[in-house]
Amino acid sequence: MVTSTESAASTAPFGTVAAPALVAVDVVDGVFGQPRVEPLAELALHPFAHALHYGSSCFEGLKAHSGSDGVLRLFRADRHVERMQRTAELLLLPVPPSGLLADAIRTTAAENLEVAPPAPGALYLRPLLLGTDPNIGAAAAPSRDALLLVLASPVGDYFAGGGRPLRLLVETQLPRTTPQFGEAKAGANYVMALGVTRRAQRQHGADQVLFAPGGDVQETGAANFLLLDDERVITRSLDSSFLHGVTRDSLLVLARDLGYHVEERDITVDELRAWRGEAALAGTAAVLAGVGTLIIDGDDVVVGDGRIGPNTTRLREALLAIQRGAAPDPHGWTSPVPPPVR
Ligand SMILES: Cc1ncc(COP(=O)(O)O)c(C=O)c1O
Repeated sequence: MVTSTESAASTAPFGTVAAPALVAVDVVDGVFGQPRVEPLAELALHPFAHALHYGSSCFEGLKAHSGSDGVLRLFRADRHVERMQRTAELLLLPVPPSGLLADAIRTTAAENLEVAPPAPGALYLRPLLLGTDPNIGAAAAPSRDALLLVLASPVGDYFAGGGRPLRLLVETQLPRTTPQFGEAKAGANYVMALGVTRRAQRQHGADQVLFAPGGDVQETGAANFLLLDDERVITRSLDSSFLHGVTRDSLLVLARDLGYHVEERDITVDELRAWRGEAALAGTAAVLAGVGTLIIDGDDVVVGDGRIGPNTTRLREALLAIQRGAAPDPHGWTSPVPPPVR
């Protein structure tokens, strides 16, 4: 881990450069205290802290984008606040009040304004909520004390070196997580998917795993899954089995604006085998990443012509233009980050 400099951010792997300022909020018996701006430093946590033993830990991930007009804009922070509240509820952690969390995100972005890289880079914001009750006997009790942090990381272009079509292993046996935690952005979900993803990388040269237990397509380890062609955008409808991506929602709105017919419905692995259009992954980090190959039951199934398709590129560019302030923002998704109050 390095602390931020602009040159490190543009070349370092996503998430490995820490911005110099963070916001911290102590939560005592369910009550959130005053947010404090602090310099990045190591944490002092009681070794008995609930999160370290029983997984009462969750996070969010959103970006602020620098425009060519010099303005840094947060993208749909309100949606990320709502999703963190939902996750906290599912983990029985104290739920951060909307205003407090939104302010903490904005303050963290403002305090790190000088390390926000120009496009195609961005300032990635990472709210983190940890249960801190110092009690290793509390496996069956929620943590009433917590620590809320909002961290920042300047990130480069996820596709530095060119957007390469992805190879996805379609996993038809195992789910990504448990049915009751699909909607949660909890650290435990990611570690549950890790073994499957590592195996897919080693054995099949896959970039990611598309989880489709029983042939029912859900999502990948860190992004939502979309099918596209010249007329339609198709994705799973919202249910408790997967994370409700803010990028997914934004792309569906834009797709409708651009005249696509949006279908939110189940997708089966049989449909994937027969699909002649494009496929893509949607998420904050990658925006919309084209899929070139699906590995289904050991067979390489080429998606379309195996390259990133024109509809994927069109929607990706439309979203990026709004995020960077280069196109009008008719849905009011972006909010400028004012300089810090000193
Ligand atoms: C499991 C999972 N699904 C979907 C997404 C996409 O969500 P969003 O578009 O809000 O980043 C993410 C990334 O945050 C994720 O980790």
